[in-house]
Amino acid sequence: MSTPVYAVENLVIDLYTPTVSVRAVDGASFHVSPGETLAIVGESGSGKTVMTLGPLGLMPEGVAVDLRGTARADGRDILTLSPAELSALRGGFFGVIFQDPMSALNPMLKIGPQLARQAQLYAGLSPEAARKEGVSLLARSGIPDPEDRYDRYPHELSGGMLQRAMIALALAARPRVLIADEPTTALDATVQAQILALIRTIQKEDGIAVVLITHDIGAVSVLADRVIVLYAGQIAEEGSAIDVLTAPVHPYTRGLLASVPDFRSESATGTKEIPGIPPNQAQLMPGCRFADRCDRVLPACHSHRPRLQTIATGEVPHRVACPVVIAAEGIATHD
Ligand SMILES: Nc1ncnc2c1ncn2[C@@H]1O[C@H](COP(=O)(O)OP(=O)(O)OP(=O)(O)O)[C@@H](O)[C@H]1O
Ligand SMILES: [Mg+2]
Repeated sequence: MSTPVYAVENLVIDLYTPTVSVRAVDGASFHVSPGETLAIVGESGSGKTVMTLGPLGLMPEGVAVDLRGTARADGRDILTLSPAELSALRGGFFGVIFQDPMSALNPMLKIGPQLARQAQLYAGLSPEAARKEGVSLLARSGIPDPEDRYDRYPHELSGGMLQRAMIALALAARPRVLIADEPTTALDATVQAQILALIRTIQKEDGIAVVLITHDIGAVSVLADRVIVLYAGQIAEEGSAIDVLTAPVHPYTRGLLASVPDFRSESATGTKEIPGIPPNQAQLMPGCRFADRCDRVLPACHSHRPRLQTIATGEVPHRVACPVVIAAEGIATHD
C-alpha cells in the first residue's frame, strides 16, 4: 500500500452549544492513500460528517469546537493551521462534495465562472484559459452542452446536473483528497449510480484519494477499498471492503448489513432493523456504546470500553471492537 496522503490519529472532537456539550468523535484514527477509496458508514448522528469535515474547519454555525489529535495532510498537521491556511487547503489539497450542492455553489453567480475562479486560484490561468478549463471541467463531470451550461445559474440546473457541477467545482483545483459527504442521497437511483461511476472514473484517472461518507452499502461494495464502521463517534469495525461486507464481526456491522434490503439477496424478505436508537452523545455511559441495542451483550459490556483488536493482518488489517464475539466465535487476534 502506498504512503497515506492524509492520516488522522486519535481524533477527539467535542462540540459545545449554549445548551449541550457532545463528544461527537472519540479517539478515531483513519488514513487514505492516493487512488484509494475509504468509505465511512454508520447511522445518522454517528459522527461521520464531524469526523471528516471537522478537521477541515467546516463545522456548523453557532457550535464551538474543540479538536484534539493529529490530522496530517502530506505530513503537515492541519489541526495546527490558522483559519486562513485551512481555507487555502480546502479548495486545493482537499476537494469537498457535499450532500447539498447549494452549500458549495453560490446561487447568485453563474456556474462556469465559479469553476473558472477555482481553477485560476490553482493554476494562475488567464481569463480565457480559465474559461476553457471551466468548460472542460463541466464536460468531464458529464454535463451535456457544457458551453451553454457554463453561463447558467445554479437554479437553472436539475438536481443531478447540480451535483455534477459541484463535483466539477471540487475537482477544479486538482485536489489530492476528495471528501464526498453523502454525495448522492438527494438523487434518484439512476442518477446516484451515474454520480458514483463518475467519482470512480475521475479517481482512477487522477489517482485521487477519496473519503466517501455514505448510508448506502451498495455504494460501498461498488466503490470502496476499505471501510470504517462508526458508531456513536467510535470505530466499531474496520478493514477491507470485502472483509467487512462479507465477514462482518461486530454486532453493529452485522446489524447494519442485515438491515439492507438488496445486499447479497434479491428480495427484501429477511431484512431486520437494528432495534433501538443510537445513544445520546451528550450523556454517554461507560462501556460499549452499542451495549443497549446489542443482541450479544454481556454484563461487562456496560462497564468496559472495548478496544479495536486486529483479527486479520495483512495489507489491510481487519479490526473489531467487540471482545464478546471474538471470544465466543473463537476468532484469533494479533495484537
Ligand atoms: N450543529 C450541531 N449542534 C450540536 N450537535 C451537533 C451539531 N452537529 C452535529 N452534532 C452532533 O454531533 C454528532 C455527530 O454528528 P454528525 O453530523 O457528524 O453525524 P453523521 O454521522 O454525519 O449523521 P448523518 O448521517 O445524519 O449526516 C451527533 O451526535 C450530533 O448530535
Ligand atoms: Mg453527516
